[in-house]
Amino acid sequence: MRSLLPNHSVTVIIPAGGSGERLGALLPKALVLLAGRTLVEHCVSNIAPIANQIIVAAPAGFEEEFRSLLGDDVLVVTGGVTRADSVRAALEYATSEFILVHDAARSLASVELAGRVIDALASGEKAVIPALAVIDTIKHVDHNNFVISTHERSALRAVQTPQGFDAKTLRAAHASSHDATDDAGLVEALNIPVKIVDGEDKAFKITLPEDLARAQRTLLGEFAEDIRIGIGTDAHAFSADSNRPMWLAGLLWSDEVGVDGHSDGDVAAHAICDALFSAAQLGDLGSNYGVAEPQWAGASGAKLLQETLRRVRTAGFEINNVSVQVVGNRPKIGPRRAEAISALAKALDGAPVSLSATTTDGLGFTGEGKGLSAIASVLLRATGRIS
Ligand code: CTP
Ligand code: MG
Repeated sequence: MRSLLPNHSVTVIIPAGGSGERLGALLPKALVLLAGRTLVEHCVSNIAPIANQIIVAAPAGFEEEFRSLLGDDVLVVTGGVTRADSVRAALEYATSEFILVHDAARSLASVELAGRVIDALASGEKAVIPALAVIDTIKHVDHNNFVISTHERSALRAVQTPQGFDAKTLRAAHASSHDATDDAGLVEALNIPVKIVDGEDKAFKITLPEDLARAQRTLLGEFAEDIRIGIGTDAHAFSADSNRPMWLAGLLWSDEVGVDGHSDGDVAAHAICDALFSAAQLGDLGSNYGVAEPQWAGASGAKLLQETLRRVRTAGFEINNVSVQVVGNRPKIGPRRAEAISALAKALDGAPVSLSATTTDGLGFTGEGKGLSAIASVLLRATGRIS
């Protein structure tokens, strides 16, 4: 957490003590998962490079869970009933010259944004907040929903976090008043100037379920939601010819008798090809490499995987992951699993591959030792067509 440290010491207080009622999750909002990590972990890891000290206010009862997620570099304290209570609970432990208060719910705010806030503090400002221009016209209304006045839009700003303060100013603000929706509001009440710096889109607050979807898109890119699943299977009988080589999962199994078939009979590779074609809506092995394209008739499993990937990419997809299961009594996959995975992954240009195997308890043609089959599933993500 030290690489981008500014010349002044910085404590980051992260109020994460809310329940996230509007998000409607079963857990406190800060523990909701976004692309495999909790919101509070995203928040902490994004801001950590500029922090000498990080204090997170957790919802009461969840302190240990937060500690085990965030590790020893982060001080976890018990949050309060309101956001301001949570900030005050953390403030007691803050030791730096500058204090940034940053909502856990603005999980994707960048370290550059925090850097702008700190730069303004370093230039002598006592209170600095990031903000964006507002797009909608804002009206002031009364309790009966009648408009009182219209504000001049160009003078309005929508405020974000991290909000930065020199420590004395923030302490004085919290000591003098107990209610405001943000920390800068407390400082304003003391008539201390609050400086605006440019905010950023990524620092939006995750409040409603659709905000979580937006965060997911922001993190994973705009095509994150266009994912396609595909399935494929293949089966071949063991050959009566004891010299027939066995190719399986891109490897030669020299002690095994292979399966019959026109190609090398690599059921794992063929099942993956079929799964890739099915996910990309490109037909199947037969329709791609059948009579119309005789040059593929005897191609190895690895060659077919490479060519299939080329066609899938041309159709506008990239592989997210591939999972294949070999079904049969032999060969034993375990001892060569890593080798097979790397052969398949190599043919697929480094895509994540997993390989499992099972027997069928003596049942069916695989259980009776008559042949071998494989079943594969793949996940593709759309990248846009390249032809
Ligand atoms: N917060 C806090 N302690 C509270 C209430 C809120 O630390 N008693 C934190 C939240 O965890 C969040 C930030 O303040 O990081 C902004 O609050 P908000 O987005 O409103 O979160 P929640 O209060 O959790 O959500 P909701 O209002 O929908 O319940
Ligand atoms: Mg709230």
